[in-house]
Amino acid sequence: MNNTRISTQPYKGSRDFYPEDLRLRDYIFGIWREVCKSYGYEEYDGPFLESFELYAAKSGEELVNEQLYSFTDRGERKIAIRPEMTPTLARMVAAKYKALNFPIRWFSIPNLWRYEKPQRGRLREFFQLNVDVMGIDEISADFEVMCLAIDIMKRAGAKEGMFELRINNRKLMDEFYNFLGLTIEQKIEFSKVLDKKAKISPEDFNKILEEKVLLSENQIKDVNNLLSQPNTLLEQMLSQKSNGAKEVKELLKKVKDANLENFIKFDPTIVRGLAYYTGIVFEQFDLNPQNTRAMFGGGRYNDLVKIFADASVPATGFGMGDVTFMDFLTAWKLLPQNQDELDYMITRWPETNPEKATIYENLASEIAIKLRAKGKKVLVWLDNFSKLDKQLKFAERKNASMAVIFGENEIKDKTVIIKNLRTSTQEILLLEDFLKN
Ligand code: HAM
Repeated sequence: MNNTRISTQPYKGSRDFYPEDLRLRDYIFGIWREVCKSYGYEEYDGPFLESFELYAAKSGEELVNEQLYSFTDRGERKIAIRPEMTPTLARMVAAKYKALNFPIRWFSIPNLWRYEKPQRGRLREFFQLNVDVMGIDEISADFEVMCLAIDIMKRAGAKEGMFELRINNRKLMDEFYNFLGLTIEQKIEFSKVLDKKAKISPEDFNKILEEKVLLSENQIKDVNNLLSQPNTLLEQMLSQKSNGAKEVKELLKKVKDANLENFIKFDPTIVRGLAYYTGIVFEQFDLNPQNTRAMFGGGRYNDLVKIFADASVPATGFGMGDVTFMDFLTAWKLLPQNQDELDYMITRWPETNPEKATIYENLASEIAIKLRAKGKKVLVWLDNFSKLDKQLKFAERKNASMAVIFGENEIKDKTVIIKNLRTSTQEILLLEDFLKN
């Protein structure tokens, strides 16, 4: 018998959301929506399935070759489950770019799928807030999405020292590679190892620089020196007339003017895995040692819309996952306690006589209807045999504030007993008066 039972486990890397889990998810989504709307961003959504080619073009090797869920549909079309939202957004904008009032500020909270090895901070199905500005090629737009991200953190209770946003610039890195005299192949290998730098030892980092990037011993020493002194690297590249360095400098000026220096730092090791970024890139890190993964990442991608339309739509934005954000809130003890879920529970006097039981039942639903019409959250007890004590315990566990109790005497006197479940005190009120307030 047991052998034939189906497992109750959800699919590997996906989650069931029981009501207590969904409450927390809603709490996070609520913060995301509230902060995005306060910046004037509008919510959009797209389909869960897209054509495979949408990702093959620009999402980068790892995502496409290792993480994409793809299949052929009954009409022989190659389909993928969305692993990220940015290509869908670019497709939607390209389809209507002539009609859109640029710059557009849009956000979305899609569920995404990536075939990953489930581990702390990484699952196969997750939700990701996407915040993007399209149609403007100004650092002020990159800075705006960063400020929005920081406001999300603050709105959730985060303080200075709990997280940090690290920025870099793809152009700057390309110019830095040119400065080092690297070939295209060397640049690709260098970017790959930089992306991994935080996760590997300094020895392994140097080994890859030597064996894959083919740097000399002296070059490796110089590179390590510069990477560990971001400001020196920045100044050096500014003296080389690097455009990327100029953009970083401009951004850092805005950071300083807004007093956000403790939240946003330049870090030349941030390169990001996705292939479509063209300028500023950034990642946000939890400074709690328990959580080592980036909480969100993004950057400027000025050429993505061009794969769909002959249109120049510069864009910048970020994606923030619910899993790492939840880990952050848990580690820093910022998750809210259970909130009041119910205003009233209407009890039912235990009664075996069917006629009397019907009178109790009808009055209970009549009171409930009137309270709900006033916007109250009301639960009604459904059977006529449970002891009152059991009903009240249930109401307490459901986090109800009040219980409404009535029996034969109360019906006769046209009264109800209102029990405050927080203080365990009770009062008798005329039913009419109770419903009036
Ligand atoms: P991404 O760096 O691939 O960027 O993902 C951004 C964030 O999504 C990560 O920092 C993490 O919080 C979350 N995330 C990614 N993969 C997983 C996973 N397997 N499990 C849990 N959380 C995950 C992008 O997706 C870009 N499309 C973001 C973007 C929007 N860039 C510009 N606009």
